[in-house]
Amino acid sequence: MFKYVGDLSNIAQNVINTYIEDKAIAIDATLGNGHDTDFLSKEFQKVYSFDIQEIAVENYKKKKRENVVLINDSHHKLRDYVREDVDCVMYNLGFLPGGDKTITTTWETTLKSIEAALEMIKSGGIITIGIYIGHNEGENEGNKVLQFLENLPKNKYGVLLHKFINRSKSAPMLAIIEKK
Ligand SMILES: C[S@@+](CC[C@H](N)C(=O)[O-])C[C@H]1O[C@@H](n2cnc3c(N)ncnc32)[C@H](O)[C@@H]1O
Repeated sequence: MFKYVGDLSNIAQNVINTYIEDKAIAIDATLGNGHDTDFLSKEFQKVYSFDIQEIAVENYKKKKRENVVLINDSHHKLRDYVREDVDCVMYNLGFLPGGDKTITTTWETTLKSIEAALEMIKSGGIITIGIYIGHNEGENEGNKVLQFLENLPKNKYGVLLHKFINRSKSAPMLAIIEKK
């Protein structure tokens, strides 16, 4: 096992933990099985978690986390539900592990959501995006997301890509965006 070059979710969580000092409000844009929401709810005062799958929301409800607001809707509507500025937004793109593989994030709504998130994060805030290109929609979505991120103004956003370069070409990637 590697200590650092291993699980991309751990890297995303470590970066958030290390660099966000005042942990007030976070968004998990892709709740799924709730691992990122678990992390965020321990660290932040308030967490908004989105998933289009009712089953994901219903499963998480059972945990009764008082600081987590669960939203059974698409993350491209972030602004409809979250009125305040936020410190971080986490994305884990693709389909629910162990769930219906046909229900997956899609590039149009993902890009709309990232655009909203870029506006909503505070100065010094962080967005993490786990990108999975090992399936058809994922490859298309990943390319579109990377293209979009490459064109963000560098005087406003720092964008870093974590990529395994000695693994399969379809290994996942992690993009991290920091707002100046
Ligand atoms: C890779 S999983 C997330 C895994 C999750 N981070 C975890 O800890 O288990 C992606 C999730 O995004 C959800 N999803 C797909 N499209 C969405 C959308 N437009 N808005 C919100 N969630 C979406 C899927 O239903 C799925 O549960």
